[in-house]
Amino acid sequence: MPVVNQMAELQDEITEWRRTIHANPELNYDVHETATLVATKLEEFGCDEIVTGVGRTGVVGVIHGKDQSSGKVVGMRADMDALPITEATGKPYASRNSGLMHACGHDGHTAMLLGAAKYLSETRNFDGTTVVIFQPAEEGGAGGRAMVEDGLMERFNIQEVYGLHNYPGMPVGEFAIRSGPVMASTDEFFITVKGKGSHAAWPHLGVDPVMIAAQVITGLQTIVSRNTDPLDQLVISITMMEAGTATNIIPDTAKLSGTIRSLNPETRNDTIERVEKMARAICESYGADASIKMVSGYPPTVNHEIQTGQAKAIAEQVAGEDRVDGNVSPVMGGEDFAYMMNARPGAFIFMGNGETASLHHAEYDFNDEAIPYGTSYWIRMAETLMPA
Ligand code: NI
Repeated sequence: MPVVNQMAELQDEITEWRRTIHANPELNYDVHETATLVATKLEEFGCDEIVTGVGRTGVVGVIHGKDQSSGKVVGMRADMDALPITEATGKPYASRNSGLMHACGHDGHTAMLLGAAKYLSETRNFDGTTVVIFQPAEEGGAGGRAMVEDGLMERFNIQEVYGLHNYPGMPVGEFAIRSGPVMASTDEFFITVKGKGSHAAWPHLGVDPVMIAAQVITGLQTIVSRNTDPLDQLVISITMMEAGTATNIIPDTAKLSGTIRSLNPETRNDTIERVEKMARAICESYGADASIKMVSGYPPTVNHEIQTGQAKAIAEQVAGEDRVDGNVSPVMGGEDFAYMMNARPGAFIFMGNGETASLHHAEYDFNDEAIPYGTSYWIRMAETLMPA
């Protein structure tokens, strides 16, 4: 059975919510208006229980099926936060909050899960309990971890948990998933090379941190090319460099920072250790000191095998078998749904957003034509995993 029958009526309403959320983007944990909108809607739909303030500003809605004798509880998660980007879509519902925009489609994720909550609250055609989870701070603030640490799984007895993200470049109406790692860890490093300043014309009287920083950059790239199994994906990107004030002065220090992305917890830990060791050794070999700060980011997002199979089968029900890729290549971006799947088995699926600008781009917009697919995916999930 393809998209849910009543979707035609629901779609206009979900689109309206999506555009309201889009016009009012909020950052990080400060998603107060969005969380209020979500909680108000869940109340209107007649959800059995609505809890706000989970993981600071997260919202959870509980919907019991007609029957609960199966004892099953399935969690479905959407994210609510936006990004610090100035919107350039020119859409009539473009951001009204200057400098902020929904450039990752979390407006669409939230609206679709709300649509499913409305439908499931009305029909309740399942045996068990659906828990809809709306999290803050996906974009770097670890809102998913905050909710897990606030007892999300235990308080609502969640047994399995599922997430979804739109995917620009993939046609609308298609899904893609894979078992195992699907998104990367996201750690950051900050290196200060402490040399010794001097006149640029007397370099031998100083310790040039700019030249040493260049060696560090080159050295760190060999961790990917020489220390890591070519079949094991790893990215080290040095994205910031800062040094110096004039062409005739060798500065005292140079700063480098960047990110490490890995799909494998072991490679991740080895790389963090090696970056630190190598940067320090290179600096020392030139007579400089290194001060190094590592900041842990999200762990890799790893799909569980059984739940991936279930998610794939549900996507196939909605989209058709030939429109679901069950072995998509992982991506090296990060996703804090990782924390939820470290707490409970689950699966994270990608859904086509069509030929739109890429995620985190000022011209990106969530594609409202994808709404029936995402919403139907959530509805069918409740009805399929907890059949009445
Ligand atoms: Ni996102």
